[in-house]
Amino acid sequence: MVTRMRAVVCRELGPPESVTLVERDLPELADDRVRVRVGAAGVNYVDGLFVQGRYQIRPELPFVPGSELAGTVIEVGGAVTGWAPGDRAMASVGLGAFAGEIDLHPAQLTAVPDNLTDTQAATLGQSYATAWFSLTRRTQVHPGEWILVLGAAGGVGLATLDVARALELNTIAAASGPDKLELCIRRGAHEVIDYVTDDLKSRVRELTGGGADIAVDPVGGGHTQAALRSLGDFGRLLVIGFASGDIPDIPTNQVLLRNRSVLGVDWGSGP
Ligand SMILES: NC(=O)c1ccc[n+]([C@@H]2O[C@H](COP(=O)([O-])OP(=O)(O)OC[C@H]3O[C@@H](n4cnc5c(N)ncnc54)[C@H](OP(=O)(O)O)[C@@H]3O)[C@@H](O)[C@H]2O)c1
Repeated sequence: MVTRMRAVVCRELGPPESVTLVERDLPELADDRVRVRVGAAGVNYVDGLFVQGRYQIRPELPFVPGSELAGTVIEVGGAVTGWAPGDRAMASVGLGAFAGEIDLHPAQLTAVPDNLTDTQAATLGQSYATAWFSLTRRTQVHPGEWILVLGAAGGVGLATLDVARALELNTIAAASGPDKLELCIRRGAHEVIDYVTDDLKSRVRELTGGGADIAVDPVGGGHTQAALRSLGDFGRLLVIGFASGDIPDIPTNQVLLRNRSVLGVDWGSGP
């Protein structure tokens, strides 16, 4: 049976506003797939890159954007075990989440715990997974260490603040402007820095008594060097992304000094 559903479609590459909402057919469910009714989908920086044709992968047009979702299983293929209609599931899908329904391989699905809403669960697939991967797989962190988070009011930034607090780190949120800093405080940041009006390096050194242990950078541009210089002995700079549009050069003398490390984070291709 063919089902009709609504989906956001990118027909030609352009600004995020150029996508359209359409009715489209969802074909009969394949034997090895699970059909999920999407309850919520996260909107990420990467979704904007996809529709503008600025991501390293360019999907064939037209395509349905949307990289993470949570919802309810409504149909299960004949060859699938372990899932049943009514189960709640979340998934990181790359594309296809901005739709009423989506067919997924069971290996893509994770059960949603009862204490999470669909909206909360939908955000776990990208930003939170990146934060967790950064702080547990790309480096090891220890309770009481100081972590500086750039772009702290953004998706990766807020997730990193949450994960860092759960790992018992002392958090410094750096962002532009009072509204963003206020959000970071509401989300539990221990200290905040406005990196437009304050000197990031001096302020971090002051707050930490010598330098941060970890800096997380999803922004790039001029803030990266300041974050590197703000690190103390054995400090680690985690390079996550370049939301500013500027991929900065790293002065290697600043890496040598104080035994610092610069670590790349590519959650999508991580084991
Ligand atoms: N490596 C990985 O595995 C991985 C995983 C997920 C995301 N990423 C990347 O991480 C970056 C951030 O993603 P996100 O979801 O946190 O994005 P976001 O929610 O849009 O936040 C980005 C932050 O960057 C800052 N920024 C500075 N200049 C900007 C500009 N010109 N446009 C937009 N933001 C700007 C803003 O903070 P201020 O105004 O406070 O500076 C903003 O809050 C992206 O490049 C994304 O592709 C990488």
